[in-house]
Parts: sequence; structure tokens; C-alpha cells
Amino acid sequence: MGVLGDARLEALVGRLHEQSAAQEAETHRYFTERAQRGELSWDGLDEQSHRFMADKLVALDPIKAEFCHLTCRALGAKRVVEVGTSFGVSTLYLAAAVRANGGGVVIGTEHEPAKAAAARATFEAAGLGELIDLREGDLRETLKVIEGPVDFVLMDIWTEMARPAIELIAPHLRVGAVILADNTTQVRHAYGRFFEFVEDPKNRLRTMTLPFEGGLEFCVKG
Ligand SMILES: C[S@@+](CC[C@H](N)C(=O)[O-])C[C@H]1O[C@@H](n2cnc3c(N)ncnc32)[C@H](O)[C@@H]1O
Repeated sequence: MGVLGDARLEALVGRLHEQSAAQEAETHRYFTERAQRGELSWDGLDEQSHRFMADKLVALDPIKAEFCHLTCRALGAKRVVEVGTSFGVSTLYLAAAVRANGGGVVIGTEHEPAKAAAARATFEAAGLGELIDLREGDLRETLKVIEGPVDFVLMDIWTEMARPAIELIAPHLRVGAVILADNTTQVRHAYGRFFEFVEDPKNRLRTMTLPFEGGLEFCVKG
């Protein structure tokens, strides 16, 4: 039995991770070729890349998703914000933790309507739909209202969105809340404005980079 402690859910996330992994070579090729043609910018994805990514799961690595689940269990997390939901793979790990903690909510964010629809269907199939408030649209709008103290945040988003997201969420973090941000070593320069916020003493965050592949930032609210 894996960390989720639920064979049916483990099987479902296993299938979704396989689907995501099967798309990786194509995604890698797409971005490598465009980079070689000098067509990419660290300021954000252009329209063509958004279209290419519209059907890609880009799910969080299983080991990182398990770490998120266990961190939520350790925190007794009841209100979780997921910045970047896609097809909802990591959301399942977060919602399973909230359920095991006695209930609460995972606020998800996704601006691609087709991804949001697929995620909702998966949440229902997993029996976790009631614990997930998936907010469809641009997170700069959908995260303007957060109804109570936040225990845990997963930041798994196109990097240019990390700063606007943390600005909206930070006022709601309870003392001891954890933010995990993906790939902070791999694309550190693209996370520049996020780190400016994290390292500003007035925001009362302490951080270290955990040695998962690509780096996983572990920030704690002081
Ligand atoms: C890396 S994926 C998330 C993967 C997901 N956490 C998982 O493990 O299954 C990031 C997602 O953020 C979405 N996204 C990008 N910019 C957004 C924005 N401004 N508002 C809401 N969602 C956005 C993308 O469409 C993409 O599906």
C-alpha cells in the first residue's frame, strides 16, 4: 500500500501519471525546438505554447505529490490552495490528505476549460469532488477571495504566475503554513519575482530548497 492508503485511488493516480509521462517526450521536443529557433521568452508562454500545452497533464512527479500528501497530513491541513490544477493529479493527493485530516477544502485553479472539465470528472470518479473547490479562470481573479486561514499551498504553475499567486495567498497563511513550489532549482531565474517576495523579511517566510529532481522549495510562514 502506498502513502495514500487507498488502493483504488493509488490505481487511478498511477494511470494518470502514466498518461502524463507519455506526453513528456513530445513536450520536451516542442520546447527544445522552439528554444533553438530563439522563439521562447522567460517572461511567459506565448499563444502558440499555450495552445500546445492545453491538453498536456504536466502532472507533479509522483514522489513530490506523495511528499505534498504527507506534509498536509503532518500539518493537519484543512484549507489547501493548489496553484495550477491541470487534470487534477496532484489535487487528488491533496484532497485525500484533507479527507484523512477530517475534512476541509482544496481550492484548485485552472484556466483551461477542457482541463478543468476533465479534472472535475476525475474528482467525482475518485469520490473526492465534495472536498475540491476548483476555480476555473485566471488565478489572478479566482484567488482574490480566500475564505479562511490557509495551511498548505502547492505552487505548480507557469513560473510567471508564481508571484501574483503568492501575493494573493500570503495574507491568508496561518503561522506554520507550508508552501511547496516545484522546480525552483531547474528554473530558478524564472522564479525571480517569487523569491523577491519570499526573501522580503516583512512577508515572514523562511525557505530552503529540498533536493528533489529540479528542486522543490519548502517555505514556512513564521
Ligand atoms: C504544471 S500544471 C499543474 C499540474 C498539476 N498540479 C498536477 O500535478 O496535475 C500548471 C497548470 O496551470 C495552469 N495555468 C497556467 N496559468 C494559469 C493562470 N493564470 N490561472 C489558472 N491556471 C493557470 C495551466 O493551464 C496548467 O494546466
